[in-house]
Amino acid sequence: MNIHIFDSQEKLNQAGAGIIIGTVQTKQRAILGLATGSTPTGIYEEVVREYNRGLVSFRKTTTFNLDEYVGLPVGHPESYLVYMQQHLFNFIDIPAEQIHIPDGSLEDTLAECKRYDELLADAGQIDLQLLGIGHNGHIGFNEPDHALLRETHAVTLREETRQANAIYFDSMDEVPAQAITMGMGAILKAKTILLVVRGAEKAEIIHKALTGPITTAIPASLLQTHPSLVVLMDSEAGRLFQT
Ligand code: F6R
Repeated sequence: MNIHIFDSQEKLNQAGAGIIIGTVQTKQRAILGLATGSTPTGIYEEVVREYNRGLVSFRKTTTFNLDEYVGLPVGHPESYLVYMQQHLFNFIDIPAEQIHIPDGSLEDTLAECKRYDELLADAGQIDLQLLGIGHNGHIGFNEPDHALLRETHAVTLREETRQANAIYFDSMDEVPAQAITMGMGAILKAKTILLVVRGAEKAEIIHKALTGPITTAIPASLLQTHPSLVVLMDSEAGRLFQT
């Protein structure tokens, strides 16, 4: 495990973007696993900046997003597809057919999960999986539980997850109760995992996840078993690692 703690968001963003761009530049047909939420936005901004400088092309890159809400219509401003378009996809040269995000607007979520796993299986292995961590230790929307699932699946979001995401919606009632998430299998199978953590409120959970027992009660703790894990943290999130 490779842990880096940064004293500024700018340096963290540059490091994160550098790892993504490096993967795309060195791998002929790179497969990226992507995350949404507040954590990666600065990294995507930096990727777009470097793209605009002509340093990288995504024409041969394929992406798989971790998750999507269930029940939001296509084009809903808080859907993760729209998030990705607004933060990354609209500004780079990736062909639309190489972008994959579970479709949470379909009636048959089970069939959609199966379709997503087939696409992942066809792709083989994600080269670089970008992850954030939830306050409760979730990765993707693999919420703490007695057991974690390997496959893509529909999940009922924990109350604390809905509350954390309520800032993006007009009211708590509008926050979807369910999401489709990539399972632990595809995440842990990725060649390299890039876990990004920001803010004082994540200090305890990231410390527990990376130094405590490996347990399904903290899904991110399973990352300890990964042979190529890079963790980028700001100094607030990394507070307990610096003593
Ligand atoms: C998002 C995702 C989630 C977030 C996590 C942290 O696609 O899979 O696991 O990474 O909830 O969210 P933020 O970054 O908003 O604190």
